Amino acid sequence: MSEQRVIAVCGKGGVGKTAFTAMLTKVLMDEVPGKLLVVDADPALGLNYAIGRESEVTIGSIREMVLEKAEKGTKKDLEELADSVEYLTAQALDEKEKFSFLAMGRMNTIGCFCSVNDLLKGAIENIMHSFDVVLIDGEAGLEQINRQVIEKIDTLILVTDTSFRGLQTVRHIKKMVDEGLVPACKNLGVVFNRAQSDVTSLKEFAEKEHINVIGSVPYDKQVEEFDLAGRPLLELPDNNKAVLAVKDCLKCAEEAVS
Ligand SMILES: Nc1ncnc2c1ncn2[C@@H]1O[C@H](COP(=O)(O)OP(=O)(O)OP(=O)(O)O)[C@@H](O)[C@H]1O
Ligand SMILES: [Mg+2]
Repeated sequence: MSEQRVIAVCGKGGVGKTAFTAMLTKVLMDEVPGKLLVVDADPALGLNYAIGRESEVTIGSIREMVLEKAEKGTKKDLEELADSVEYLTAQALDEKEKFSFLAMGRMNTIGCFCSVNDLLKGAIENIMHSFDVVLIDGEAGLEQINRQVIEKIDTLILVTDTSFRGLQTVRHIKKMVDEGLVPACKNLGVVFNRAQSDVTSLKEFAEKEHINVIGSVPYDKQVEEFDLAGRPLLELPDNNKAVLAVKDCLKCAEEAVS
């Protein structure tokens, strides 16, 4: 297996992280040889609809089940449970031909059982290690990514709307990365999404702040219509202009890493 690549998509609420991740899934599954894992790291979920997956089992729901057993069980039960965590965690993995999907779900910290968390962490790590490319749809903050098992990110894509306020959030996230509050990250850049006008001034501002610009994705009526109808964005035509822009963003992000 070639070296694994981890791409994470973050940004503030509602800027289009999930739509971007779904379109990037479409691009990656057609272009990248090797095994692709798409992860929904947003506790509120939602990526499954955008990529046409119905799986309801999440790492969070598996964790609840394991915790319940651990609390009620005897020492022997606990030992058996430890042996089966790997198998149980694998049940959350929705494996299909083009790509596999894993939803993290809600990770309630109440009733924290460190040994269970460690077991789960190891099991998730094992799943992730068997993929060539891991694509993560993050939540608005970076908490989930921070708390979870992602040891390193190769490319962190910060999606924003085309406003200066949006860029301030990007600056804030970049600061968190610089301060080491999230996993080590080789390359970070911003994508302006739902662009309806020229973004030159925003690009200039980003560059002044030493934020790499990966690209911009235009507002696209078809994207909005697909989402409104609950239709997976993977079914967008290959020549859809937002999909083509996402493809360019991937190319630009790859060049920056290599
Ligand atoms: N390029 C685009 N063109 C048109 N509409 C878009 C585009 N990108 C996203 N949208 C629309 O914007 C809305 C929000 O997108 P999305 O749900 O992907 O945002 P999000 O950042 O994942 O939100 P949340 O923070 O709630 O997870 C959706 O209705 C989606 O269809
Ligand atoms: Mg989302």
